[in-house]
Amino acid sequence: MLHYEPKDLSIPEVHRLLLGGVAPRPIALVSTISTDGINNLSPFSFFNAFGANPPVVAFSPSRRGRDASLKDTYNNLIATKECVIQSVTHSMVEQVSLASAEYSPGVDEFIKSGLTPIDSDIVKPKRVKESPFQMECKVLEIKSFGIGGASANLAICAVIKFHVAEDLFSNGIIDPVKIDLVARMSGNFYSRAGSDVFSIKMPGNKKCIGYDQIPEHIRKSEIYSANDLGKFGNTESIPSDDEVKIFIQKMSEEKLEQFESSIEAFKRYHRLTDHNKMLKAALSVKENKKQNIELSAKTALKNNDVDFAWKAALYAGSLK
Ligand SMILES: Cc1cc2nc3c(=O)[nH]c(=O)nc-3n(C[C@H](O)[C@H](O)[C@H](O)COP(=O)(O)O)c2cc1C
Repeated sequence: MLHYEPKDLSIPEVHRLLLGGVAPRPIALVSTISTDGINNLSPFSFFNAFGANPPVVAFSPSRRGRDASLKDTYNNLIATKECVIQSVTHSMVEQVSLASAEYSPGVDEFIKSGLTPIDSDIVKPKRVKESPFQMECKVLEIKSFGIGGASANLAICAVIKFHVAEDLFSNGIIDPVKIDLVARMSGNFYSRAGSDVFSIKMPGNKKCIGYDQIPEHIRKSEIYSANDLGKFGNTESIPSDDEVKIFIQKMSEEKLEQFESSIEAFKRYHRLTDHNKMLKAALSVKENKKQNIELSAKTALKNNDVDFAWKAALYAGSLK
């Protein structure tokens, strides 16, 4: 590991560390309006949501690194106390990047970026038509931390109206693939968030046994990854010896055809990630029995059949 205290680094070095390690960051495309009525539109990735009751979001139009001057967005927020924050999708990311160029205060970035301004319902700043998720906001507070270049100005805002495209939803939630958001990483890198989506079973209100209660033979096995162990820990109770015995008996009784109870068949089922057939084949083949049963348990975890995985893993632990 490398170890740094910010006081020993230059400001660009600190900035680069934050951009790389605090990532991927959602991007707020922020629309404001000056007291002269000039629209402003800029992206900010020092941004997130912090509560739902009331809905609170915050972003940081920081001082410019170059000369510590204040950005137009900040000046407009101070003057008008209003903004619209929109999410940034993959289809608009190049235009959003164009809006981030350093135009002089009198320049309307809707015109420069080619993005389309539409009226908001409550606040004066315009919404961006191309974004499928828009939030009309009132500024609650702006917290400044320092007056040097790249110092933070945390604009804390209450959302007073959401505008969401109806075709974004699947089963009552915003579908991450449909919304196709982009996020900011280090340097010039972005991430297309909807293209690598996976889900995990959340512990929620469940009383999980936790990592420390996983039997040692499972924790020490070379078959399971750290994430596998995390999944084992995310359960409320461990199956009893009797439950394991009944399960294994049932699996052994459900015979496979002769050609299927071979190590080749086990390997084929492994490639097909069929944990059920893997275990049946593993039980009927002497070769690498313990390891193959553990591989069946690992595959069951991958397929989110945690009860199966527990029983197979506990049985494997009883073998030499
Ligand atoms: C994706 C992206 C994210 C950005 N995030 C931030 C940020 O969090 N804070 C910031 O001060 N500038 C950020 N910038 C740079 C501003 O968008 C840029 O300084 C812009 O010109 C500010 O415009 P304004 O002076 O009209 O407010 C970001 C730029 C891009 C392209």
